[in-house]
Formats: sequence, C-alpha cells, structure tokens
Amino acid sequence: MSVNQTLHDVYLNGAEQTHFRITPFLGRNLIGGRNVGCHVQLSHTRRANCRPANYGNASICCRFGNQLDQGHWQAERNVPDVRLSSKINLSPYASIPETNPSQRQVPQAEQEGFHWRAQWYPVAVVDDLDPSRPHATKLLGDDYVLMQDADKVWRCLEDKCSHRLAPLSQGRIEPSDSTLMCSYHGWRFNGEGHAVSIPQAHFQSPTAEQAACNSNRSCVQEGLLFIWPTSGPESFVHSSAVSPAGSQITDQITSEDITFQHTMHFQRDFPVPYDIVVENIGDQSHVPFAHHGVAGSRTSDWANHFKLSAVNRDLKQADGYTYDLEWSPSGFKAPSLQHVSFTPPSLIEYVTPNEGKPSTVWFYITPLDQHNCRVFSHSVGCDPIPKPISWLLSKRPRWLDHLVLNEVFDGDMAYLHQTGVITKNQDASLDSWARDYFLASEADRSVTAWRKWYHGARGQGGPFKAEGIPLVPPTPLKREDILDRYAQHVKRCPSCSKALRGIKTGQQALQAAAAVLFLVLAAQLGQGTSPVSWPAATAASGTIASLVSQGWLHGLEKKFTYENYDHAK
Ligand code: FES
Ligand SMILES: [Fe+2]
Repeated sequence: MSVNQTLHDVYLNGAEQTHFRITPFLGRNLIGGRNVGCHVQLSHTRRANCRPANYGNASICCRFGNQLDQGHWQAERNVPDVRLSSKINLSPYASIPETNPSQRQVPQAEQEGFHWRAQWYPVAVVDDLDPSRPHATKLLGDDYVLMQDADKVWRCLEDKCSHRLAPLSQGRIEPSDSTLMCSYHGWRFNGEGHAVSIPQAHFQSPTAEQAACNSNRSCVQEGLLFIWPTSGPESFVHSSAVSPAGSQITDQITSEDITFQHTMHFQRDFPVPYDIVVENIGDQSHVPFAHHGVAGSRTSDWANHFKLSAVNRDLKQADGYTYDLEWSPSGFKAPSLQHVSFTPPSLIEYVTPNEGKPSTVWFYITPLDQHNCRVFSHSVGCDPIPKPISWLLSKRPRWLDHLVLNEVFDGDMAYLHQTGVITKNQDASLDSWARDYFLASEADRSVTAWRKWYHGARGQGGPFKAEGIPLVPPTPLKREDILDRYAQHVKRCPSCSKALRGIKTGQQALQAAAAVLFLVLAAQLGQGTSPVSWPAATAASGTIASLVSQGWLHGLEKKFTYENYDHAK
C-alpha cells in the first residue's frame, strides 16, 4: 500500500486508543532478526506505542510525522527512518473521524452494557402468519411458539409444553376457543400460557400455577410481530417502558406522498451470524460488485464513490450510531446523500432526504441463534412516477417483489455464509476485528462504526458473549442449503407459496397437454396425414409450445426453491 494524504489525515484524526495494525513490520527488522508484527495505538497526542509481538515488554515509541505523505515512517529513539514498503499492511480505517472528536465525552449510556435480552425483536410479518395454526420461531438461541388467541392478539409462549416438554409449535389451535393444544397429550393453553384444559386431570384444578407455560410479551408495529425474549413480572415492566425501534421518518410521509413501496415487509432467513449480516447491510460498497446487474453496477462511473461523514456515536436516546453516506444506490444516477442509522438491537435505516419528500429503506436483523438471523426489509419511495407505471406497480403481485429481493439477497448469501464460517473459525467472537480485517478505505468506516459499537462497552461482543455463552464456530453448509430460497423464505410466505403451487400445477397441465398433443400427432401421421398439413402442424406446434412453456415454468420454479448464484458470470 502506498501512503497518501488520506492516510495521513486519518492518522492525525485518530481517536484515543484507536487500533491499527502494521504487519509484517516494514519489511525489515527493528529489533531482533526477523519481521515482527505490532499493534499501534494512537492517542490524541499523535504518538504511537508499538509493542512488537513476541518480544515481551520491549517497546518502541514511534511518531507519525509530516513525512508520512512523502512515503516515510519516522521513529523516535534510536530507530532510523525506514521507507514504507508495499508489504506494509495498514488498516487505517479502523479509525473513524467522529464529530468533534476532541470534545467527545463518552455518554453514560455508552459506558453501560446493552441488555440484549431486554429488547424488542421482530420475528414475523403478521400478514404472513396463518392464525389457524401455531408457528415456531427462534430468538437468541431459544425456541418460541407464536399463536393468535381468542381476542385475535398474537401471543408468544416458550415452545415447550409444561407437561413433558413437547414442542407446542407441533400442536394445533382449537377452533372453538383459540387455545393451543399440545399434540402429545392434549393439554391446552391460552395466550398467557395458562393451562385451561388437562384432559387426564379433569377432576383437578386446570389452572394450577405449575401447569402454566412461560409466556413472553409480544406486540405488533408496522406489520411486524415483535417479542421480548425474557418472561416474568420484571420483563412486563421493562417491555412496557419501551417501544420497538422503528423507522425515523414514516410519520413524516403521508400515504399521498408514497409513490412506491413494497406491499409489506419482506423476510428471509440467513444462515449467517447476526453480526456479519449487520455489517453487510451497513456496508453499501459491496452493492456494485455483489449485486452487479441486479441492484447495482460495478462498471458504473459511481461504483466506487463512497463518502462517509458525520459519524455520531453519541446518541443518547437510541444508543446506536448514525452517519451520512454519499453514494449512488442505483449506479445510474449521480451520488446523493443518505442518512444512515443503526438502532440496536436490529434496525438499520437509510433515509434519502429528497427535498421534503424523504424516501427510506429499512432493515431489521434478528439474531435467531449464533449462526442464523432473520432479515426484514421494507422500502418506501416518494419519487414522482408516471401514473400508468404507478398504477401497474400497485397491481403487481407480492411474489414478484419477492423474486427480485430474493435475487438481491442471494447475491449476499452466496458469499456471506462462507465469510461467517471463515471469520468465526479464525476468531469466534471477532473481537480482534481490527487485526483480522484490513479496512483500507473510507467506504469501510461503516464497518468500523459497527464493530466499535458491537465489541465495545455497549455491545459487549454480542448477545451470546455478553451472557457468557460459549461461542461455537459455524460449520460450512452445502451450496443448496446456503441458497435455499424455499426454506429461508417461500415456506413462510403465503404469496410465494401460492405462486409456487400454481407453477407446479401449470407444469403438470402443460406436460399433460404436450403428451396428449403428441399422441394426436402420432395418430394423425399413422393415418397417413401429411406432416405439413394443418392438423398435423397444429398438433406439432402445440406439443412444442407446451414443452417450451413447461420448461419456462420449470425455470421459474427454481426461483422459488434453489438456483445457484454465480458471481463469475
Ligand atoms: S407433553 Fe404436552 S401434553 Fe404432554
Ligand atoms: Fe414471498
């Protein structure tokens, strides 16, 4: 890497205790007889303490001076100037220039650990849930069951029957009173987890305290079902005091302003750790490459235009961070500014100001367990659109949006699972991200913002590490499982499931039609009909058209199940 003015600026703006890495060390030896690695901590005095690895407490006091931009690294104390070589592995964007760094005071809230279990997490799109049956979900490694009670309220219970621990999600909803029946011995529970019927103990109190299942608080916001992953009286108090994190601008947009939006939230499960997906969704510099031809273009003039500024980690209310990002989301329009915010535990929002008519895209990333998360996305646009197009868009089926979004997410999924396996097997907590990663450009600052929050005093290395749960590195999945659209989305999406059923039925009908027409053709030819006659030509072209259409539907079916995503194409 060559040293340039940008790098120099970053050094001078480095916040206290900012970590850099320099390894291998300058291509020549400062101490001892071989290359050594070292960590550099910059302080606001612009001095660096280098502690070479493997050399005990031996240290070198270094200074980064003005000669940096001339390609020199200058060291104090008996160490001669050493020319930087291309072998030097600097990670300058492990430092974020923050707003007023010299005046920054660490807020009280930032000094306290984030309570990962005292939060609202979205687990389902309400309109996707069939109220006639229970639904299993995971959150933070625990199993829950979602059910709609007699008051049409979605409830959440621990997915464990109080009798002999059978999964309640394998049970059924009783149509007579909307209670949840455990299918093992028929105990029935209401939405609060109370046992309202124990068939084998009808002579005993059916609502005995011991017979209750654990219940968790739930609520619906913006079409999403949120649950609170602790139960008990204290959690009732805590959860009542806060609302789920939501879009910061939906109250500024009226329905007349909206010219385009996805009909409702799109959800998809990722076989990827939560922190890797948050990092990915907060990093837009991958879009022109990972989504080339789908949602961006690597050949665009603006493919690599990313200016990130105004990083603010001093938010007291949301306890997250914000930054401004100048880039070209489509790759075809000149770069524009977006305000980006991360609100823990799971919301990332991109707001485009748009002269009083803001547009927004937001994502929730819910940690299901250590290796999987669920992503919800929603976008609302207020750009003027010609009326005929607007009318057409309003009539589109929901699954059509989902085909596009699945294609986009496949572009991430194709490498994110393996990225998760590689990073977590190298460093299960990724606490050493500043050394593990090589963050070389301004576009990487969003990664730095996330990692600083996640591994800092607030995030404590994530929900599992914060609870002292041993971290288990993920195991690699087969390609078919990584990109399994059916398991990750379609089976929980009524619109896509219905479309898939229609496609399968259509294929069967076309196959049957092709077979019948072929038999008709064979019979005609057998009776001496000329192959170029009108009846024979009709039967032949009908057979071919049926087979071609069936092939097309087969291709479409794969878009609801599994289709390899090849970035090399
Ligand atoms: S385990 Fe549920 S009723 Fe027996
Ligand atoms: Fe869908």
